[in-house]
Amino acid sequence: PETGCLSIIVLGASGDLAKKKTFPALFNLYRQGFLQSNEVHIFGYARTKLSDDQLRDRIRGFLSHGKEYTEDLTKFLQLIKYVSGSYDSAEGFQALDKAISEHEVSKNSAEGSSRRLFYFALPPSVYPSVCKMIKHHCMNRSDLGGWTRIVVEKPFGKDLASAEKLSSQIGELFDEPQIYRIDHYLGKELVQNLLVLRFANRFFLPLWNRDNIDNVQIVFREDFGTDGRGGYFDEYGIIRDIIQNHLLQVFCLIAMEKPISLKPEHIRDEKVKVLQSVLPIKNEEVVLGQYEGYREDPTVPDNSNTPTFATMVLRIHNERWEGVPFVLKAGKALNSRKAEVRVQFKDVPGDIFRCQKQGRNEFVIRLQPLEAIYMKLTVKQPGLEMSTVQSELDLSYRQRYQGVVIPEAYERLILDTIRGDQQHFVRRDELKEAWEIFTPLLHRIDNGEFKPTSYKPGSRGPAEADELLQKVGYVQTHGY
Ligand code: BG6
Repeated sequence: PETGCLSIIVLGASGDLAKKKTFPALFNLYRQGFLQSNEVHIFGYARTKLSDDQLRDRIRGFLSHGKEYTEDLTKFLQLIKYVSGSYDSAEGFQALDKAISEHEVSKNSAEGSSRRLFYFALPPSVYPSVCKMIKHHCMNRSDLGGWTRIVVEKPFGKDLASAEKLSSQIGELFDEPQIYRIDHYLGKELVQNLLVLRFANRFFLPLWNRDNIDNVQIVFREDFGTDGRGGYFDEYGIIRDIIQNHLLQVFCLIAMEKPISLKPEHIRDEKVKVLQSVLPIKNEEVVLGQYEGYREDPTVPDNSNTPTFATMVLRIHNERWEGVPFVLKAGKALNSRKAEVRVQFKDVPGDIFRCQKQGRNEFVIRLQPLEAIYMKLTVKQPGLEMSTVQSELDLSYRQRYQGVVIPEAYERLILDTIRGDQQHFVRRDELKEAWEIFTPLLHRIDNGEFKPTSYKPGSRGPAEADELLQKVGYVQTHGY
């Protein structure tokens, strides 16, 4: 591993993302020994005028502080310094650079290099100006080597054109290996497991194709609404918020071909290829919904047309998947909180047990909560009769990996950015392809051609979504 001084700069340090995700992830990395006190300094930067201690007090409550962590917590907070300034102010960024440089001088040993990691916990509207400021005032200039990297998060634009514009603005200032585009779903344990499941198991290799798989569902449900985020959400909607990024990344991992190796570029090449093979989304294979009461949020316009629920079918034009519907479904204010992938196999030909009404084989990966991988299959009903029943081969993480702590997505991803591993980050061309797929549909929604139907909070969403699922071939299995 690289050594030398590491400065982590959290831009937007007093905001929600920083408090809820970035600082807690940094603290957990610190506790586990991944950030060494003698090398690391953390800088918060934001517009609000605060002292170091005021920032520390603001974030303290968000860090896990069981008794056993008290000492770590105190030490960790001491690593944090605060600099205030606006996002387009040269003076602000010069002051930031000065603070970082002082730290580097104080910590650097002769052989050490300087590493500067800028974490953007900021709205994308300020990305271009912040990138400029960093490029002009805050780059690593150490003769001893090191690097400067930036970590950014969605929304990357609102459609193909705006995303490409943003990518070009950033791309003029930073090279692709310096840019880490976070999709936090790629940091989830079971999302990372998809590649292993698919390509390290003989079971799946011969079955993973159109000859055997009837349909695939990738589902995200939340049992709460936009909860105070109505203003942001209304501008984006569920497709931009969840489907175009989180679910599409899962889709890539399920559908892509085997990469040549585990090198980040090889994996991302395969993702791009499968995205390029997706056919245009058909209107009749989309259902949109908006939960009742959504418009009562004072930050949401009374006539909002923004979907809080969407189900749609993606179809892939290639040898492996021709004809297999991939149903992507996401919704807020539904009856449960769950994210899962459900791969449904075709019926057994010439079924001598006549058991197909009970359901088909399914391979399910539950990403959250209660991570699990299970296979639904038909077995003999225990007893004297020769009858069949649906059962499961069940790998439940709680039971199988008792005591193993599954790291938070952000923790893993931040560690990857420090290590320089881009495997779990979105490449520019991947982002472009993702927008290519959804932009025509998003434009139809934005200009009012396509309206969501309303659904009751706490329900399964619009009934039309279940009808669409059945229409494309999903057979409801009873039991689990
Ligand atoms: C975010 C979305 O990217 O993901 C939120 O903006 C959503 O709307 C969240 O609630 C879900 O993340 P997780 O990890 O809780 O599934």
